[in-house]
Amino acid sequence: MHHFQYRHGRLYGEDVPVETIVQDVGTPVYIYSRATLTHHFQVFDGAFSHIPHLTCYSVKANSNVAILALLGSLGGGVDIVSGGELFRARRAGIPPAKIVYSGVGKTREEIDYALSEDILMFNIESRQELEAISQRAQALGCTARIALRVNPDVDPKSHPYITTGMEKNKFGIRVDEAIESYRHATRLPHIKVVGIDCHIGSQLTEIQPFVDALKRLRILMERLHALGIPIHYLDLGGGLGITYADEAPPHPVEYAEAILKEMNGLSCTLIFEPGRVIVGNAGILVTRVLYTKSTPTKHFVIVDAGMNDLIRPSLYGAYHHIQPVVPPEREQETVDVVGPICESGDFLARERTLPRLVPRDLLAVMSAGAYGFSMASNYNSRPRPAEILVDGKTYHVIRRRETWDDLVRLENIPLM
Ligand code: LLP
Repeated sequence: MHHFQYRHGRLYGEDVPVETIVQDVGTPVYIYSRATLTHHFQVFDGAFSHIPHLTCYSVKANSNVAILALLGSLGGGVDIVSGGELFRARRAGIPPAKIVYSGVGKTREEIDYALSEDILMFNIESRQELEAISQRAQALGCTARIALRVNPDVDPKSHPYITTGMEKNKFGIRVDEAIESYRHATRLPHIKVVGIDCHIGSQLTEIQPFVDALKRLRILMERLHALGIPIHYLDLGGGLGITYADEAPPHPVEYAEAILKEMNGLSCTLIFEPGRVIVGNAGILVTRVLYTKSTPTKHFVIVDAGMNDLIRPSLYGAYHHIQPVVPPEREQETVDVVGPICESGDFLARERTLPRLVPRDLLAVMSAGAYGFSMASNYNSRPRPAEILVDGKTYHVIRRRETWDDLVRLENIPLM
């Protein structure tokens, strides 16, 4: 479900014609829908309403502070993976008691910042990290609440780059080392064990891997309980997939039912870290056709958005549906939609059937709300796009387009 629909042959974001936004702010531009974001958050969070839980939106999916503030106003917490994400979350007014911190490479500076903010818990990914957090908590005279991120070794059947819960991945602590690590953690004076965590991957389209991971965590929790190590928070990470093309991922309600069935009898607060399922289909990237050209074997449509703006097709071979903002009545053509970047890997779509396109046509790249802007770069010295949040009949610029001045603002020519 999303609020990007055609009315009288023109694409709208909620009640605003996409063309109106483009006239005002230009292209390429990311456009998000407040109603869609709200709906997605409420459906996900509401699916667990009858049990103690905390929905910690995964900041990395889309880190704009306006989006964090919106989700925070709906009662959401956040899952962060860096000091920068903590800074954004605090700037957006997310209370520290709703912040969990994952990631294999937390630096001393980041650990100190999170300790000083007194976040809900650190999801610890290795024994060395446990030692580091323990030492910093001691130095700062405070206590760190922690969960161990356990690697349950289940196959989420997703793209290898976004699979995280298999033994060959760098994430988490092995199940068979977990008990010993927990015992060790309980002996550290500035560490308070409060939870257990896992995150097995992203864009999962089946329920079973989630259930398998939970089964493994349950066994561990029962063993910990028997050892007198109580677990108050069970963090199941994120990963629920969305429909980009014809995938049929479980609805959050189905996901919740499967999880709750498996929880049977366990009393603890559940934490979730959804990213994509909240923002993915709540955003589009709008780009303008610059030129078209043909070779004997190909038709290329060259647009003003490139892999620096949306890297998912180039990096993961990801599919994003592409549709004209005003569908023209022209014959269909099979084309590659490519960007201006000087690499052949710079494409948004390959072998895609679209109505024949001409310069100045506008295209909407759908399902671009997650891992779109947040993975954008300035490669080829391209200013990053503006971000817009549509709200009913109005819209807000939640990030202005970068300028050429922005590109060099932090640089310095030394006297030579
Ligand atoms: N929690 C942790 C610890 C994570 O590493 C991630 C995502 C999430 C939660 C949120 O997962 P989600 O609900 O969004 O699936 N750039 C890739 C996706 C990378 C996901 C990384 N971790 C893409 O564009 O598909």
